[in-house]
Amino acid sequence: MSWLVTGGAGYIGSHVVRAMTAAGERVVVFDDLSSGSSARVPAGVPLEQGSVLDRERLEQVLREHEIAGVVHIAARKQVGESVERPLEYYRENIEGLRTVLEASVAAGVRGFLFSSSAAVYGMPDVDLVTEETPCAPMSPYGETKLAGEWLVQAAGRAHGMATACLRYFNVAGAAVPELADEGVFNLIPMVFDRITRGEAPLVFGDDYPTADGTCERDYVHVEDVASAHLAAARRLAADPETRLVLNIGRGEGASVAQMAAMILDITGRGDLRPEVTARRAGDPARVVASADLARKELDWAARYGVREMVRSAWEGWRLRHPEAERR
Ligand code: WQD
Repeated sequence: MSWLVTGGAGYIGSHVVRAMTAAGERVVVFDDLSSGSSARVPAGVPLEQGSVLDRERLEQVLREHEIAGVVHIAARKQVGESVERPLEYYRENIEGLRTVLEASVAAGVRGFLFSSSAAVYGMPDVDLVTEETPCAPMSPYGETKLAGEWLVQAAGRAHGMATACLRYFNVAGAAVPELADEGVFNLIPMVFDRITRGEAPLVFGDDYPTADGTCERDYVHVEDVASAHLAAARRLAADPETRLVLNIGRGEGASVAQMAAMILDITGRGDLRPEVTARRAGDPARVVASADLARKELDWAARYGVREMVRSAWEGWRLRHPEAERR
């Protein structure tokens, strides 16, 4: 069966396309190239440029390529920006999703996989977050992901589509340097950015109720995230009754202090010392997945650790920032 990957020219999407094509799946990319790039789409994979808000174009592409499954990754993803521009986030992430679903139903798509996020949980007060942990998003971004899950599930039930929602935790790393994240919105690239300028990494608060006082997160390699998509897609294809909502994480936390120390070590910048600054508003102390359900349902588990994420992300950073090489 053929798959349409929306957002397939972006950071996570291009890794999903790479994993699915390597496994022999037929894939078509749909992307508006607003943040993605055609250079991320491998030769031989059709790239259809278009907006997720364009119902007619979507349906045309779905029919033309005889698509039976959709992996919907295209979305706006910056938490802070979503607070400033909620209307844009609801438009792209909710109206865009609704439009993709409408076109999918019209074109007879049988399986739908949706990119969700740990942001649906907000500030979970538990050691390990399970899929049963109450959802309480803290930003318009997180709200669009939670409401998106509801919409996907309702449409799946009503129109006989198998569905899976994957709640990614903190995605990092790259399969190859060319596919590394170009954004500087998350801890690892933000530290790379600082050290490239010879500045110390910033640690946003060290008075959290965690082992070393800094925030703990579940960092998961983007290649592992991609392999989870492949496993979920195969499940959707095999079982039309599939209704999955799964955490995609390693089930292990790493603190900001640990991450900063590891980044300095891997990049050879042991001369710099992390600098503690004020807390960043809205940061939960600890968000770490229970990865049990994904293991049980998909026989999937992350293979890579944090060092591999940092090392591969650094290779990608150096490719685009030759000035990062130390004189
Ligand atoms: C991680 C930790 C920071 C930079 C966000 C979204 C989440 C998901 C992933 C999309 C925090 C600290 C950071 C720095 C620091 N996105 N930090 N110094 O906030 O856990 O998650 O991205 O689905 O929904 O909320 O990720 O990488 O921004 O921060 O101390 O220079 O690193 O305070 O504790 P976050 P992050």
